[in-house]
Amino acid sequence: MSATIIDGNAQGEKLRGKVAEAVRVLAGQGVTPGLAVVLVGEDPASRVYVRNKSAKTVEAGMRSFDHKLPADASEAEVLALVRQLNADEAVDGILVQLPLPAHIDSAKVLLAIDPAKDVDGFHPVNAGLLATGQQALVPCTPLGCIILAKSVHPDLSGMNAVVVGRSNIVGKPVAQLLLAESCTVTIAHSRTRDLPEVCRRADLLVAAVGRPEMIRGDWVKPGATVIDVGINRVPNPSAGEGKTRLVGDVAFAEAAEVAGAITPVPGGVGPMTIACLLRNTVQAACARRGLKVPL
Ligand code: GUN
Repeated sequence: MSATIIDGNAQGEKLRGKVAEAVRVLAGQGVTPGLAVVLVGEDPASRVYVRNKSAKTVEAGMRSFDHKLPADASEAEVLALVRQLNADEAVDGILVQLPLPAHIDSAKVLLAIDPAKDVDGFHPVNAGLLATGQQALVPCTPLGCIILAKSVHPDLSGMNAVVVGRSNIVGKPVAQLLLAESCTVTIAHSRTRDLPEVCRRADLLVAAVGRPEMIRGDWVKPGATVIDVGINRVPNPSAGEGKTRLVGDVAFAEAAEVAGAITPVPGGVGPMTIACLLRNTVQAACARRGLKVPL
């Protein structure tokens, strides 16, 4: 293995430390940021994520408000809760955990969130502000990708960046952020012709396709920086029957032979998402009160 391993746990901890310090500064001004998390249903992975978010919010000195609704909650009930949180002065950030049950229109729910409290950055107003280069609440995972890439290359300008994946949650916003960093950005996806060749042009390769180990070592340009957003659970028979393991969208062992730097899975982008959520909550708390962000 030749690549530098980008340590998302260490970077996440560093950012959470900065957030905790900012929260102490705000406490001196009589402000305690609050984050409300809405979970609908019993999806086990979502429950773990939500529990983790609450714990880290409290650890950083902020208030956490958890709202759990049953899987059969109506769309109207979810919308009513969002409106209640919009109106609640103690709530600076609102996160509705996705995916929502199939009978609820996610786009409608995300549209109901006050853009000033949209710490996920999923509201079309925030997506539009980001796309037009204005101050916005930026989606957490994409922001985490940029922080990790800049830990290797503090100046990304002029780099050829290839983003594989075009979702609203990761692919599109990460491409916008890379453009704002003056990268030359290509957005590739499942219909891209000769994807391996497109990836081989990347100085910075961001993989966000959701397919286990799809991106192979020989798709990586020697010395490139590889940011792997994928978190895929796959069978791991060598550990015993029924056992699983987590892998990214990149074939890590192969890619690490070629890349200059690479994020592992787990321990790469994952820990950055929560840290960026906490950061966004501080940003929202300050913006709502016209305060300078102490970050
Ligand atoms: N589900 C998986 N990732 C996310 C995320 O970043 N935000 C929300 N709200 N739900 C998710």
